[in-house]
Order: sequence, then structure tokens, then C-alpha cells
Amino acid sequence: MSLRKTIFAATYDRMSRKSEEAGVRALRQSLLADATGRVLEIGAGTGANLQHYGKRIESLVAAEPEPAMLRRLQRTARERAPLAQVLQAPAEALPFEDDSFDTVVSTLVLCGVDDQARALAEAHRVLRPGGRLLFLEHVRADDPGLARFQDRMNWLNRLVVGCDCNRSTLASIETEGFTVERLQRTTMPKAPKFVRPLIVGAASA
Ligand SMILES: C[S@@+](CC[C@H](N)C(=O)[O-])C[C@H]1O[C@@H](n2cnc3c(N)ncnc32)[C@H](O)[C@@H]1O
Repeated sequence: MSLRKTIFAATYDRMSRKSEEAGVRALRQSLLADATGRVLEIGAGTGANLQHYGKRIESLVAAEPEPAMLRRLQRTARERAPLAQVLQAPAEALPFEDDSFDTVVSTLVLCGVDDQARALAEAHRVLRPGGRLLFLEHVRADDPGLARFQDRMNWLNRLVVGCDCNRSTLASIETEGFTVERLQRTTMPKAPKFVRPLIVGAASA
């Protein structure tokens, strides 16, 4: 485990607090109101979403590959979602049969996975036909000037957070066979300009 990943896990909740309070928490809440049935969350981090799952879900699996994050996730799950199953797994290799879930949730994850196409293909595989991917993701800006700025600043992102906030994630979601049903383009409040562009929505498998 790298030192950066350990520090990132230890500081993540503190680093994101202002953005969460200024609007990201509300985005999570309204996105996750649509989670139904058997739910898998990938890259669940410290468990920021766990409090937002409602009565429409039947079961919840929260997956996270990084040991330092996983420990925090287990703690949050014990406190807020005791029925959730927490397991260690990367999005690129999900230990589930095809068609195992009705909903896959990915929030602020697809910018940081090692292989985005493979992670999306896995999400598609484990979803039943017609099941939905709910996403809230950092993305490449539509504005070419801001996109160039994101490219220039990406070294800093990689160094601190280990992700690429300049990925064309919406195009990848479609390329991997999802049909986007609902899409909101918005920005992350209280965050550096080069990580602000966000997409929030739902896509069916
Ligand atoms: C910015 S955090 C977001 C955490 C959480 N989803 C949230 O919304 O607060 C990115 C998370 O993705 C995880 N991650 C990194 N590589 C991953 C991979 N290959 N598969 C799944 N998760 C990964 C990180 O360990 C971290 O927990």
C-alpha cells in the first residue's frame, strides 16, 4: 500500500467536507433515492453514500480495493448500514456472477480506476439487463479552455488524489453499452477549478 493512498484515506473526509456541505451531499442524496433492489457500490471509499440508501433497496454490497479505505468503510457500515456487506474488490474484477444486481453505484470513482473501460464493462456484466448504473463523476470539461487547464493540472491531481479528472467518462459509459437515461451536468462546489466539472445521472445496461 502506498503512503499516498494511506494519507488520502486518512484525510478524505476532512478534505471533502466543505464540498459535501456545499452541495455534493445533496447530489448524493437525490441520486441514491433511485437505487433499487440488489445494489452494488464500487469504490465505496469511507462510506459517504451509506446513509443515503433508502427503503427501496433489498441488499447492499459496498466494494473497495484499498485497505486503508476499506477499514474506514467497515467502520461506517457498522454504524450506518449494519446490513451492508463490505468486501475488498477492484471495479475491474468484480467477484460476482453476471446479472447479479439491479443497481450499480459509482461516485467519484471512474476518474481514478486503473482501467476505466474494464471497470464499466464489469459494472455492465454484473447488472441484469435493464439494471441501472447511478453515477456522480468528475469529468473532462466541455469548455475547451477549461479542459486544457485540467490537462495542465492533472499532474497535481495524480500526485494528491491519484485520479484523472479530465477523463471523457460519459463517452466511456456509452461505449461500454449503457444507455444514458438521465444526465445532469454540474460542478463540485468549494473545489479547485480543474476538478469542478461533474456529471450526475443514470444509465441502463
Ligand atoms: C475519490 S474516492 C471516492 C470514494 C467514494 N466513492 C465517495 O463517493 O466518497 C475514490 C475511491 O475509489 C477507490 N478506487 C481506486 N481505484 C479503484 C479501483 N480500481 N476500483 C474500485 N475503486 C477504486 C479509491 O480507493 C477510493 O476509495
